[in-house]
Amino acid sequence: MMYPKTVYIHTIGCQMNVYDSERIAGGLAPLGYRQVSEPESADLVILNTCAIREKAEQKVFSFLGRMAGLKRKNPELIIGVGGCVAQQEGRKILDRAPYLDLVFGTHAVSRLPVLIQQVETTGGRLVDVALSDTIQESPIYAASPNLDQISRFVTIMQGCDNYCTYCVVPYVRGREMSRSPERILSEIQALADAGIREVTLLGQNVNSYGKKEGLCDFSELLTRVNGIEGLLRIRFTTSHPKDLSDDLIATFNRLDKLCKHIHLPVQSGSTRILSRMNRKYTRDMYLEKIARLRDACPDIAITSDIIVGFPGETPEDFEDTLSLIRQVAYDGLFAFMYSDRPNAPAAHFPEKISEAEKAERLQRVLGLQETLTLEKNQSLVHSVQVVLVEGVSQRMNASEASPETTPQWYGRTPGHKIVHFPERERLGASGNLGRLKTIRIEKAFSHSLWGRPVSQEE
Ligand code: 5AD
Ligand code: SF4
Repeated sequence: MMYPKTVYIHTIGCQMNVYDSERIAGGLAPLGYRQVSEPESADLVILNTCAIREKAEQKVFSFLGRMAGLKRKNPELIIGVGGCVAQQEGRKILDRAPYLDLVFGTHAVSRLPVLIQQVETTGGRLVDVALSDTIQESPIYAASPNLDQISRFVTIMQGCDNYCTYCVVPYVRGREMSRSPERILSEIQALADAGIREVTLLGQNVNSYGKKEGLCDFSELLTRVNGIEGLLRIRFTTSHPKDLSDDLIATFNRLDKLCKHIHLPVQSGSTRILSRMNRKYTRDMYLEKIARLRDACPDIAITSDIIVGFPGETPEDFEDTLSLIRQVAYDGLFAFMYSDRPNAPAAHFPEKISEAEKAERLQRVLGLQETLTLEKNQSLVHSVQVVLVEGVSQRMNASEASPETTPQWYGRTPGHKIVHFPERERLGASGNLGRLKTIRIEKAFSHSLWGRPVSQEE
C-alpha cells in the first residue's frame, strides 16, 4: 500500500468518537492517507467533535481557530469537521469557519472517503448531515496506528431513544439502532487476530441491544463474544439502570472473559430530579439494582456519572446525591456541571443554578469520591488481582531506567483500576504487553495500586 498523503485526526469527546475516528482512518487508508500525529505536516485535517456539554463545543471552535492559521500557510490543506457538533450545526459551521471544506455528520462516517474524493477533485465546500434509519457500515479495519495498543472500542449500537431531558445524544446521533451480531463478531475476531486482547462494547444503552431489530439480546451477544479466540477480556458501557436485567447480572458470573465492572450512571440521588431528568427510575429502584448486582457478584466494581446543578436542584436534592454516593460507595465517578444544550428540553426548564453554585457542588462530589476511591483501593491491599498488561509506566520508562532499576509496568484489574508493578527480568517491550499477570497488591493510592507479580514472591 502506498501512502502518498497524510491525515491528522483530532478527536474530542466520548469512546464512540474514538471508535468513529478509527473508522475514519480505516476509510481514508485506501485513498492513500497515512495518519500523522501533528496537523502541521498534514494534507488533510479531520476534527471529530462532541456536543455533550458547552465546554466540549468550545474546544471545537478553538481548535478550528488554530486550523485557520494552517490553511493560510497551506491553501491546499483540506479541513473537515465531523461528529456531534457537525450534526447539530450542519451548514452553519461553514459560515462560521470560511476555511472549512467539509462538514459531515454522525451517520456520514462510511461516506467520508467519497466526500473527501469529491473535495479533492472539485474543491467544493460540502455538507452531509443526513441521518438514516439503517446502520451505515464501514469495511472492517483492524489495523491500528499504535502497535502497542491492546484494547479497542467496538460500537455495537448507535443513537438513543431515551430522551433524558438534559441530553443532546438522541438529536445528534439519531434513534437507537443495533449492528448485526455477525458484523460485530467478525470485527472483534479481526481485532483479536491483529493482536487486540480486550474490547469494550459501546452503546448508549447496551441493555436494549438488538431488541428493536429482533436480533439476539445483549447477554447472548456477550456469550458469543466470549467465545472469540485470542480475546482475553470484554467490557461494555453504558447500561441504563432502568433496563439492567437479572439475566445480564448473571452473565458476570457465567462468562470468564467479562470483567466484573459495570458503569451504571445514576445522574442524581434525588427521585424528584430523576423524574425531571426523565430517567424512568427512582432512587430506591436504583439502589435495588445495586443490591442485586452485589448479591450476585460481591466483588464487582461499580462506577457512575453524576450531573450537579440540574435546573431546580435544591440543596436537599443535592444532599440526596451525596448520600447516595456514600451509600453505594462507588469505585469511581465522573461528575459534571449541568450544561444547557440547544436541543434538549431542560434548556427551557426554570430555576437554573448559578455557575458558582454548580462549581461548589461539583467540588463536594469530587472530594467525597476521592475519599471513597482511596478507601476502596486500600481495601484491595493484600488481595490478588489479575492484570492485563498495557505498557511500561510513564514515570519509569524501561529504556530510561538504569540497569539496576527494575522496570515498572502497568495494567488494569477487571475493575479497571490501574496497577503498577516491577518486573525483575527485563523483558523486551513486547514480552509483557497484552498478557494477563497475577499481582499481589501491596500499596494503594487514590488513582492507582502497586504490587508485585505473584510468581516473584518469596
Ligand atoms: N450537562 C452536563 N452533563 C451532561 N451529561 C449528558 N448531558 C449533559 C449535560 N447537558 C453527562 C451525563 C452522561 C455523561 C456522558 O455526560 O452524566 O451520563
Ligand atoms: Fe443521553 Fe439519556 Fe440516551 Fe444516555 S440514555 S445518551 S443520557 S438520552
